[in-house]
Amino acid sequence: MAQCVPSARPTHSSHKAELHPYTKTLYHSRSDNEMTTPPISIASRLLRQRLPRVCVAVVGKNPAEMVTKAEDFARDNPFIEFRLDYLPQPAALFPKLKGFVEYHPHVNMIATCRRVSSGGRFKGSVASQVEILVKAASAGCQLLDLELESATKLKNADWERLRKTGAAIILSYHDFRSTKNLDKIYHKMSALPADFIKVVSTAQTLHDNVDMMKFLERRSDERAIIGLCMGEQGLISRLLCMRAGSAFTFGAASAGEETGPGQILARTLRETFRIDQLDVATRVYGVVGDPVSHSLSPVMMNTAFRRENFNAVYLGLHAKTLSDLMACVSDIPIHGLSVTMPYKESIMKFLDRTDPVTAKIGACNTIIRSQDGKLYGFNTDVAGIIRPLEQRIQLQGAKILVLGAGGAARAAVFGLKDRGCEVYVMNRTAAKGQKLAKQAHVKFLQKKQLAKMSFDCIINATSVGMDAVPGKLKEEQILTEKELNTRLVFEMVYTQPETKFIKMAQAKGIPCIHGVEMFVHQGARQFEIWTGKPAPVDEMQRVVLHALAQRAQLAKK
Ligand code: ATR
Repeated sequence: MAQCVPSARPTHSSHKAELHPYTKTLYHSRSDNEMTTPPISIASRLLRQRLPRVCVAVVGKNPAEMVTKAEDFARDNPFIEFRLDYLPQPAALFPKLKGFVEYHPHVNMIATCRRVSSGGRFKGSVASQVEILVKAASAGCQLLDLELESATKLKNADWERLRKTGAAIILSYHDFRSTKNLDKIYHKMSALPADFIKVVSTAQTLHDNVDMMKFLERRSDERAIIGLCMGEQGLISRLLCMRAGSAFTFGAASAGEETGPGQILARTLRETFRIDQLDVATRVYGVVGDPVSHSLSPVMMNTAFRRENFNAVYLGLHAKTLSDLMACVSDIPIHGLSVTMPYKESIMKFLDRTDPVTAKIGACNTIIRSQDGKLYGFNTDVAGIIRPLEQRIQLQGAKILVLGAGGAARAAVFGLKDRGCEVYVMNRTAAKGQKLAKQAHVKFLQKKQLAKMSFDCIINATSVGMDAVPGKLKEEQILTEKELNTRLVFEMVYTQPETKFIKMAQAKGIPCIHGVEMFVHQGARQFEIWTGKPAPVDEMQRVVLHALAQRAQLAKK
């Protein structure tokens, strides 16, 4: 038995039905040529157990490009889907593929030649699709993907040809619009003679992932199954589907080469999300917002978890509504959340308890879910402000001006007041600033008063500079040079390294705390709340700076 596992690749001799590793226990056609529902073959179970978790989808304009890309992945990710339908002449790949197999006998390969009508690029008939798949098996592909739409059109002779190749058949179904009727589709598919059933839907809500994973849990004992949701909201299932019973998941070879909406880079799945280590004990955390794709929290927190050997994964959760999120929190289950725009305030009503400062601020950016399912809320933006400041100045009695009166400003005002600072507030809309000053028992300032005053620190807690793109979107100026009378400047914006506010301070020789420090420290405090361990702050800051530099480079292009 052990011998047949590594040699699952079909050989010439395996083309004979009696030697065939998969068909031995599969699909005995009746004499009247009627198919019976196939039992799961032992070989496909074994194949399933030894398959890597991530299959890299490889596309290319010509066979040479495709094989070169496959070679790049052969060592780190020895499971490759060749998207034959991307080639103008799919069959032209096979001579090269044979050479590839010779040098990389350990690589598992899927041949997919998806037809246009099923979301692929192959314009040929079902018969020519079968022809190509049969040849792909001869060239060494151990798995052949055949979509349900084509499969239902196959004649028994076509099935026989496919089976005789010795390759395992993945019967696939794609819903590019929604996640529904999963069991109905499964029943239809399970009547056909395939080794793997692949059901891919589109997540319109976060909860669609839960539906997909429950479906996998129900069905994975019956058949070897692959399931995930496409779309930006499908990330949860792309990562956690194996926990629910999916045989593997798919990843893209590089940015811009995704073969399905929402597909993550295979490298990101392995390196950032540590997909090879995810198991039933892995705790799930995430950042919830709308939108959330810009967030650097996933790269920062996953780095921290890896560094501290904490068995957890952190996802970006794009929630269009909070009720959708809440339905997932207990079902997945999610152990903790970072909360970002626009939910920091509206999430408060879903919490069972908050600490007093968070209650005063009226905004929460951190949630921990206790074992009994209760949700506790904190505001770690406060730590993000306090920690970098207390490393530089004595907070007790420090005179600090906070610019702005939104959520970030509220965290600064209440947090600093709590630490004994003499706090001042200034805001473009005076009424809002006055209201905050009154609530926090601090002083409100008019802009005209500023030139005559000086501070230990001025904090920019407005959103000015956040969306500015150098050379593209103009950034406003919050203060003039004359109004910037301070020993220290704190810029909360972290999306760009040098806002106007920072540049002005630097020109005046005033030391600055950059927004990245706040971002890292608020994340560090979240890490501590969730894990009970000190956070690897330096490492977190390093990856955030690296990600920002990469982003700046991309923006320049
Ligand atoms: P956050 O939750 O990130 O703090 P917010 O609640 O939208 O974001 O608050 C944004 C803050 O930036 C507000 O204080 C806003 O001032 P208004 O209350 O007058 O809207 C401030 N802000 C935004 N654009 C500004 C600008 N161009 N000049 C000065 N202040 C600005």
